[in-house]
Amino acid sequence: MSTVDKQTEGAVEAAPAMPTSGLREVVLTFEQGVATLRLGQAQETMVTLTEARIADIEAAIAQLATTPDLHGVIITGPGPGMFCAGADVNLIRDITAAADGEAAAVRGRSVFGKLRDLKIPVVAAIEGPCLGGGFELALFCDVRVASDAKSTQVGLPEVKLGIVPGFGGTQNLTRLVGLPKALELILAGKLLRGPQAVRARIIDRLVPAAKLLTAARQEIEKLNKQKKKSKVRKLRGMAWWLSRTPLRALAVRAANKSLNKGQARFYPAPKRALQCCVDALRLQPVDGFAREAKALGDMIVTSESKGLVHLFFLTERQKRLGKHKQAKQVDRALVIGGGVMGAGIAGQFASNGVATRLCDVALEPLAGAKARLQKGLDKLLKRRRIKSHEATAIQDRLAVSISPGNLRNTDLWIEAVVENLEVKQKLMGDAIAHGLPDDAILATNTSSLPVTAMQEQVAHPERVVGIHFFNPPEKMPLVEVIRGKHTNEAAIATACRLAVRLGKFPIIVQDSPGFLVNRCLSPYINEAARMLLEGTSPEAIDSAMLDFGMPMGPCRLLDEVGFDVATKVSEVMHEAFSDRMQPCELFAAMVEAKALGQKTGGGIYDKNGTGKGPGRAVIATLQQQRGLPAREATRSELLHRLIYPLVDEAYRCLDEGLVEDELDLDLGLVMGIGFPPFTGGITRFATQEGLATIVSKLDELSRSLASRFNPCDGLRRRALSS
Ligand SMILES: NC(=O)c1ccc[n+]([C@@H]2O[C@H](COP(=O)([O-])OP(=O)(O)OC[C@H]3O[C@@H](n4cnc5c(N)ncnc54)[C@H](O)[C@@H]3O)[C@@H](O)[C@H]2O)c1
Repeated sequence: MSTVDKQTEGAVEAAPAMPTSGLREVVLTFEQGVATLRLGQAQETMVTLTEARIADIEAAIAQLATTPDLHGVIITGPGPGMFCAGADVNLIRDITAAADGEAAAVRGRSVFGKLRDLKIPVVAAIEGPCLGGGFELALFCDVRVASDAKSTQVGLPEVKLGIVPGFGGTQNLTRLVGLPKALELILAGKLLRGPQAVRARIIDRLVPAAKLLTAARQEIEKLNKQKKKSKVRKLRGMAWWLSRTPLRALAVRAANKSLNKGQARFYPAPKRALQCCVDALRLQPVDGFAREAKALGDMIVTSESKGLVHLFFLTERQKRLGKHKQAKQVDRALVIGGGVMGAGIAGQFASNGVATRLCDVALEPLAGAKARLQKGLDKLLKRRRIKSHEATAIQDRLAVSISPGNLRNTDLWIEAVVENLEVKQKLMGDAIAHGLPDDAILATNTSSLPVTAMQEQVAHPERVVGIHFFNPPEKMPLVEVIRGKHTNEAAIATACRLAVRLGKFPIIVQDSPGFLVNRCLSPYINEAARMLLEGTSPEAIDSAMLDFGMPMGPCRLLDEVGFDVATKVSEVMHEAFSDRMQPCELFAAMVEAKALGQKTGGGIYDKNGTGKGPGRAVIATLQQQRGLPAREATRSELLHRLIYPLVDEAYRCLDEGLVEDELDLDLGLVMGIGFPPFTGGITRFATQEGLATIVSKLDELSRSLASRFNPCDGLRRRALSS
């Protein structure tokens, strides 16, 4: 039996508590000439790289360098499902000087670099997240083996925090896999699962979890037999051509092109990361590492990075809403209404392990829902994100029928039928009559109707809650959890837990017309429609908002939402908020002309969303009826009339207590309407723009154009004290 076979199996089991003296953040053990360095204590389920942990890694490496008769080192996580999730984001947030960021990068990379200086083979044994700084540590190892557990993931997601990898990641990964693959991963912060990482030649070997440490020992033994410290690796094929020859310019040009279009153009970090990757192929390692550290320092202090880090903490905060002690697990759900929203919601439930029944009065939507789910699954199958038996299991979890049947075994009942209060109230009453248990959650996906009015019709109104998904539910990351007058904490908590399980971010919003997102959106799309009638072209309006950083201009958005829906929502808003939200006459006129948007084959734009749609004639007629000369608004006027009222409305929502704090506004509007993430959210944008500037401009618009621009008292008060 070789020494390898004699090692303890159960690779990722927690280490025996035998910490080497002086180390608190890592655990170092020795067994038969092989050292195992665990990156955390056995009880740690989340490992990040704090200053203290980096110091302990350094101390452990120093000890390894002087330990006699050692023939290899295994670096692994503290236990199953966790290697290292990357640098502590608090550190990234707190660095405010570029020189400090650069110094932190130099420090981390020089510590990790000492692994390469060890004379013996160092093998990373990976299970669970191996991301950012954690992956950069693994890249300094001589060999990487990984467990085939689903939790295993590698990648450099730093650009998502507005920075570049700084602990050698751009240099080591580019040299390992070549420029095209490194750019594909680094510029988009893309993560790879185990099999993908093996195909990319990042992971050398994928083994069952229980064999992870054994495999790591085998790799050490193999290298020792060959009298080598590391494997010899060479770039091959296109990776070589596009890295090591003048053809590299092609890869760089293509990357630059995509980084300078769309929303990507607002983010400096990927462009800087691109330069670093090229440096990895042009410069000596020492110079490449130095350039990378400088780039990290420059990026870490940008407002884009600070905005993205702010949003990161907000998403973490919202995820904790799902951990409330009163939150119940939803295992069986019933969705009523299989249209645009219901089909998407039911598919999301089934995809995330909830046994789901979808009911509709018609058969066609039910067949459509199954087909829509299959389309999504086919995409995942094609990208090898799931296996075919998993896709089958997901489909099997979605049952469809035209009758709800017995509701006894239901944890959550949610309706997504037509936007009509009586219909929704009746359905809730029917559900109770058909045996829905008293403790099941009754939810509505309404976008504008009062949840409280629905509560008043049912027994145990405290379990009625709004769970407002956005369209399409498969893609939109926000869920507004609506608290009606009688909703209790358990219902709110359960809805939040469900949203988190679906991979969404919940925000809790009080029951009020339009809730948060649609209410803030109302003045924005109304104003865009008014500017169309004054003579500004849809293209000019949309491109101004795209240049501001929105994912889509308001005219395109109107076409996507549909003028029928816009009309309905704007009527609700008008009734609730009178003149401030008076609907623009364009909405009704478009409905009358049957130019509803995408759903009727065209609205302001044609059905492809590019050319002119049938709505242009409607706009021209209304312009003529106004009898005023057409006037094209300037870029700054567009910004002031579209974005500043959005800011005002958000603060009104906060002051009326719709949401708890400014953080909800920031997250809600980034995730709900795509307010530019690099700003860090609407309140951070407002502060940077200057609240006094916004108030004074709104006052000016109120005097020169209409009283709807009059800023709210809360905004004035904040402007005075800013
Ligand atoms: N479409 C959106 O962008 C969007 C976004 C968020 C929320 N919502 C809300 O979601 C709800 C549904 O909207 P939608 O766009 O999916 O509507 P839809 O018209 O596409 O679908 C409604 C479905 O409900 C079915 N239905 C009607 N009465 C029923 C009944 N008694 N029992 C069972 N099924 C019944 C219809 O057959 C239809 O398939 C509405 O409350 C809407 O306000 C819509």
